[in-house]
Amino acid sequence: MKTQVCIIGAGPAGLMLGHLLRAEGIECVVLERQSGDYVLGRIRAGVLETVTVDLMARLGLDARLKAEGLVHGGFNLADGERLIRIDLAELTGKHVTVYGQTEVTRDLMEASAERGLDVIYEAGDVALHDVDSDAPYVTYTRDGATQRIDCRFIAGCDGFHGPSRQAVPASAGQAFEKVYPFGWLGILADVPPCNHELIYANHERGFALASMRSETRSRYYVDVPLTDKVEEWSDDRLWDELTIRLGPDAGSRITRGPALEKSIAPLRSFVFAPMRYGSLLLCGDAAHIVPPTGAKGLNLAASDVLYAADALTGFFRRNDPDAISGYSDKALARVWKSERFSWSLTMLMHRFPQDGPFERAMQVAELDYIASSRAARTAIAENYVGLPV
Ligand code: APR
Ligand code: PHB
Repeated sequence: MKTQVCIIGAGPAGLMLGHLLRAEGIECVVLERQSGDYVLGRIRAGVLETVTVDLMARLGLDARLKAEGLVHGGFNLADGERLIRIDLAELTGKHVTVYGQTEVTRDLMEASAERGLDVIYEAGDVALHDVDSDAPYVTYTRDGATQRIDCRFIAGCDGFHGPSRQAVPASAGQAFEKVYPFGWLGILADVPPCNHELIYANHERGFALASMRSETRSRYYVDVPLTDKVEEWSDDRLWDELTIRLGPDAGSRITRGPALEKSIAPLRSFVFAPMRYGSLLLCGDAAHIVPPTGAKGLNLAASDVLYAADALTGFFRRNDPDAISGYSDKALARVWKSERFSWSLTMLMHRFPQDGPFERAMQVAELDYIASSRAARTAIAENYVGLPV
């Protein structure tokens, strides 16, 4: 098979990029290791920046998002019994939309067939070849046969554990990483949210987050030691912990119910630079990971693929051979700012095992400053709604 762009990974980044390229008449094929059902089985975060909502609207795939997405004009930071509201609408004139990443992926996936986006699921042993040439190719296995796709560019949208980043020689790139000493235990339940807006809580027992997917489906998290196993956390134990950590007001409004999904995810900050090597462009989690505290993962994938689609369109449609060269620097400029915000909110809202009284005093001082300074709240708000693309 021959195509112009071979996209590896059919998560949000790969599917968004595939649709953007198809809309520009650029030939592409998407290779996905898993089945479509498996991809849809992943429960991820659910706060969309305007950049992501606008991308879905540009693709004409925002009907369900507009119908079911919850528009939020603010969110809250809780510190014991203090609740600090960050008024996104008043401070930035913008909002965020609560809509599950799984639903974004579903909308993108369901449109693939009707729009002629070729997505090959259950593609095994995907391997990248000659990425430093003008004629790279990708091989994979399916139904016992090895296939080859010749292309001009490869878009690595295969997440943190995919093969694309590994195809860049160690000498050609640099990884920047911070691993946090805790994970997030999340629960999804068909119960009404305890609050109409998100609450991020820093309690003496640890972090908690009250979020939602709809008016009838809630998503909660607590931070737990990396040694914890999800089997050690019964639903009741988790509801008890959330009730304490979210404080007497919100905690008292929690509706309990059986977990539809319950899992522990580690927290990491990670960036690989550059995000391009030869004919390989890296997008989304293949190039960077953020702790979920700032809800930036999917939204960074969206800005990456917007930059990548513009670069590839410049090359193929505007016959601009230099269009590709600017991709990495442009994408990284926004990636690093989101990495900083996600890291800073994680440091502010979590208790670290090695922290002493001074570190706690710094958290209290920063929260006092945020509570008392419009400038401080504006800085948080403009990062939370998403910096300009
Ligand atoms: N071959 C083919 N596909 C692969 C391979 C491989 N060897 N390895 C991984 N993949 C696929 C995964 O199965 C997954 O469907 O690549 C896809 C990567 O998707 P995500 O991990 O969701 O990453 P991305 O698309 O960048 O999403 C960015 O959205 O899903 C959230 O948490 C995610 O915040 C992140 C954001
Ligand atoms: C979620 O709803 O899953 C969610 C929301 C905000 C975050 C992280 C996760 O920062």
